[in-house]
Amino acid sequence: MAFDPLVADFDDPELAELRRSCPVSRTGSGAWFLARYEDSVAGAKDVDRFVASFREPGVVVPDEEQLISEIPEPRHGQIRRIINSAIAAHRITRVEPFCVSLCNELLDGILECDGPVDLITDYVMPVPNNVIAHLLGAPADDFRRWAAWSDEVVQGTYPTKNRNDRGEGLAGAHPEFVDYVDSLIADRRRQPEDDFITRLVNTEVDGRRLTDIETRTQLVFLFISGNETTRHLIGNLLWRVVNDPGLFAALDTDRSLISNAVEESLRMDPPVRFLMRNCMADTQLHGESIPAGDKVVFGLASANRDERQFDDPQNFHLERPDQRSHLAFGGGPHVCPGAALARLEARVAVEVFLDRVGSATAAEPGTYDGVPVFWAHGPRTLRVRLDR
Ligand code: HEM
Repeated sequence: MAFDPLVADFDDPELAELRRSCPVSRTGSGAWFLARYEDSVAGAKDVDRFVASFREPGVVVPDEEQLISEIPEPRHGQIRRIINSAIAAHRITRVEPFCVSLCNELLDGILECDGPVDLITDYVMPVPNNVIAHLLGAPADDFRRWAAWSDEVVQGTYPTKNRNDRGEGLAGAHPEFVDYVDSLIADRRRQPEDDFITRLVNTEVDGRRLTDIETRTQLVFLFISGNETTRHLIGNLLWRVVNDPGLFAALDTDRSLISNAVEESLRMDPPVRFLMRNCMADTQLHGESIPAGDKVVFGLASANRDERQFDDPQNFHLERPDQRSHLAFGGGPHVCPGAALARLEARVAVEVFLDRVGSATAAEPGTYDGVPVFWAHGPRTLRVRLDR
């Protein structure tokens, strides 16, 4: 069977061969795959040529219902400034004490258990769920409900088809999620609070505010994007910590290395494997002609292991120069606005884990049970035995 970079392991030698000799290739689905770091960096900046799209060809989404990643300029810039200003106003540092006590509470429960526990369901998943709910201003008790809806959206057909068996658009496909978010927005309009949703509703940029449907669309996207990806970052890093006693000991001895470990995890195990784009103009790249209208995939995981950019890219190094130059958060005008929050959550989750846990033994050492989402990379389970 022909090699397919969209399903390849990150360390597959054939992926390295693409980077070396065939940086632009055609995948089985017909999309073009960019294997090299420099091409993904340039492509992410060239937002007029490459417009983000998870949708299947022919699927048309009304403007107000486009997710922020897929909105073309200049509308993207306006909406992005509204979101940035709401995030910036809500200082991320205020989240840290909340995150520390949450991680401690979770470990209180876990360390009571005698047998092995699943770190993903019992520790990793609740962290971004609760933190994003706290940041956005949703009631803490509701997180199980919207976390389940958020998984349902990611794993269903709405992102690609803008519909599922239940109906069209977000409101048709996931009505419970939409009703929930709409009622949060209506509450803030009635009774403003000192929180993110109130700011999102009231922030004005260039004389423009978000409409109700835009607010709902972007809020749902924030719930989802702050959740799934950060879960995979924490899960991937803990997977390595639990499976590599040397890494556990190094981080336990010198906590200042945890931030480096977070960056190296983002490079080696990026939670988002690819960026999907529609090519808007006929394009020549490395001798290939990509016609307007074709799909182009930026291989973030491949870029992060590009030998031209990183020394010894297939190995995890706690100390690298320019540790943040990986592409796990994308690049250009759509670069992830939640990067600081995700980094904070991962650092705190590992710090508290090392504070509380004396030793950790994986139930199935070296086994990586990945989530069944083609663009995502994170463990679905991580069964471990923990000792204080
Ligand atoms: C480790 C965790 C995370 C990873 C790996 C990640 C990754 C990414 C990537 C690769 C993009 C670029 C998408 C594109 O260009 O098509 C992106 C965009 C985005 N991320 Fe994140 N993200 C993470 C956490 C978060 C968090 C915590 C939030 C919310 C607070 C968030 C909100 C967003 C939003 C709103 C966008 C769209 C920005 C735009 O299009 O202008 N992300 N993220």
